[in-house]
Amino acid sequence: TASSTCSSPPKLTKTSHLKVGFSQEVNNAPWRIAETTSIQEEASKRGDTVIYTDANNSDSKQVSDIQSIIAQRPDVILIAPLTEDGEVSAIKQARAACIPVFLVDRDANHAQVTPGKDYVTFIGSDFVKEGQRVADYMIQATKGTAKIIELQGTTGSSPAIARGKGFDDEVASHPGMQIVAKQDGNFDRATGLAKMQTLLQAHPDVTAVYAHNDEMALGAIQALKAAGKIPGKDVLVGSIDGENEALQDVQSGTEGVVVQCNPRLGPIAFDTIDAYAKGQTPAPWIVQQDNEYTKANAAQAISQGLGF
Ligand code: AHR
Repeated sequence: TASSTCSSPPKLTKTSHLKVGFSQEVNNAPWRIAETTSIQEEASKRGDTVIYTDANNSDSKQVSDIQSIIAQRPDVILIAPLTEDGEVSAIKQARAACIPVFLVDRDANHAQVTPGKDYVTFIGSDFVKEGQRVADYMIQATKGTAKIIELQGTTGSSPAIARGKGFDDEVASHPGMQIVAKQDGNFDRATGLAKMQTLLQAHPDVTAVYAHNDEMALGAIQALKAAGKIPGKDVLVGSIDGENEALQDVQSGTEGVVVQCNPRLGPIAFDTIDAYAKGQTPAPWIVQQDNEYTKANAAQAISQGLGF
């Protein structure tokens, strides 16, 4: 705001023993638990302390979590925002309080806040590319003909928006790839299961399911089995994340493809904070690299501990 006395984004002058705020949007499933653990482990490795909050899937709780972190005057704040718009006001409040913010895993709406100004940078995966990779696999595996149900992530969250766009744009040039229904499954297994049960009644002839994350795919697989269908044979399933349970399903052929979204953001996040403290200007987006798992490499990925 106009009253701030610091630069945009605020500078970080301390280089060690940082007090780091971390606002997590929810901590309810393997992906998010892996992310939280990665950040906490990296902080303790470096001798930094973490003020941690869990917004339990609520934009309003996440805003008040961030406000309470600001009040504790940390050196930096890491935010994994629930939605693109929901935490914008709190990001601006941190900047006005002269505390540099780093967004991790999910981005915010660039029409409202700008990396390199309101926050230092976004550190996370290329969600558009993740969606494209699932689409490319499905186009090839089905020879370009499928009736697809798309289980979307939380409405308004950056991964749901970008994974939808990446997939939908990619299949759009293949007229045989028909998306017959899209539903918000909230990145959640129970919701994915329930939505899939209902959708199967309207679309019993579905031949593919694209889930924006593994948890919803695991729910959809349960629903398909309960409806007497064989996932991997009658219905091709593809999703994003790379949790162990999904990798096991890829290994057994129940799922066709899992594109990784690497949740181990601790090292890259703290390296970026470190660079910033030393006076460097990080790129507006630090891209996390992701693998892709099919039957050819799923067993190896499990044994290498790449799952979570
Ligand atoms: O922001 C990353 C996504 O959020 C992960 O794919 C998902 O599992 C989580 O809910």
